[in-house]
Amino acid sequence: MEKNRIKFEFLVHDLKVPLAVIEAGLVSLLHKMDKYGPLTEKQAKVLERALRNTLITRTLVNDALELGRSSEGIVTKTSFPLSSYVAQTLVEIFDLTDHKTADRIRECTSCADLKKILSQKGIFLEMEEGLWRRELVLDVSKARQILRNLLNNALKYRKRRVDLRIHERDGCLQLYVRDDGEGIPANFHQKIFECYFQMDMQADHCVRGHGLGLAGVQVLLEDMGGEMSLESDVGKGAAFSVRIPL
Ligand SMILES: Nc1ncnc2c1ncn2[C@@H]1O[C@H](COP(=O)(O)OP(=O)(O)OP(=O)(O)O)[C@@H](O)[C@H]1O
Ligand SMILES: [Mg+2]
Repeated sequence: MEKNRIKFEFLVHDLKVPLAVIEAGLVSLLHKMDKYGPLTEKQAKVLERALRNTLITRTLVNDALELGRSSEGIVTKTSFPLSSYVAQTLVEIFDLTDHKTADRIRECTSCADLKKILSQKGIFLEMEEGLWRRELVLDVSKARQILRNLLNNALKYRKRRVDLRIHERDGCLQLYVRDDGEGIPANFHQKIFECYFQMDMQADHCVRGHGLGLAGVQVLLEDMGGEMSLESDVGKGAAFSVRIPL
């Protein structure tokens, strides 16, 4: 492994310790009130939210390390219900911006329920109830990173709506994420998958990103034996299709 990359991964790795301290502190305040004193309802809510986001940060740090491991070709397959894969990915996304929706997604028990909550947020989910209940064998952490990055992009660039379709076909999990934003001109269809590339570096929204998401998704898919394609043009939105073999 190249020296700079080891340094970088070591830095990410060492974020785990201070994060664990923050997490433990929040857990103590929330769950050991006999020792640390009572909390008002409002204080508890703030701490719960801080804790949730610490957990998300922990997931992100683990994901970052996972990405490094993946480029070394490590894939960890487990069996999990597709419902938890989809719901958890969405909770991670909403917890950062809209914790009420995140709570509703966390509590939902059927695919129909989830579709209703999402449609109120301009996200239209197409997925069969039967698939929602299925157990799949897949590297779920990588699968979550893939879906989260594509959805975050779609939500960032959409005008009004995002379409999310999840199917199982030809022995593959198929994800389709489409938005109705400005789209991507054909001459950038390769470039956007390169590290640090952003179409309009000057635009405000680019400040929030690093141009790493799609490059990361590409690496993960390679390791999982999957593939991704893009359909888009100026003014016509962008549609990313992913196939992950099961
Ligand atoms: N759905 C989309 N619609 C329009 N442009 C997109 C879309 N998805 C990606 N792009 C373009 O591709 C570039 C690279 O995307 P990528 O996800 O790799 O990086 P980012 O979203 O800018 O930052 P990061 O994901 O690292 O936070 C984006 O900056 C944007 O210019
Ligand atoms: Mg991105």
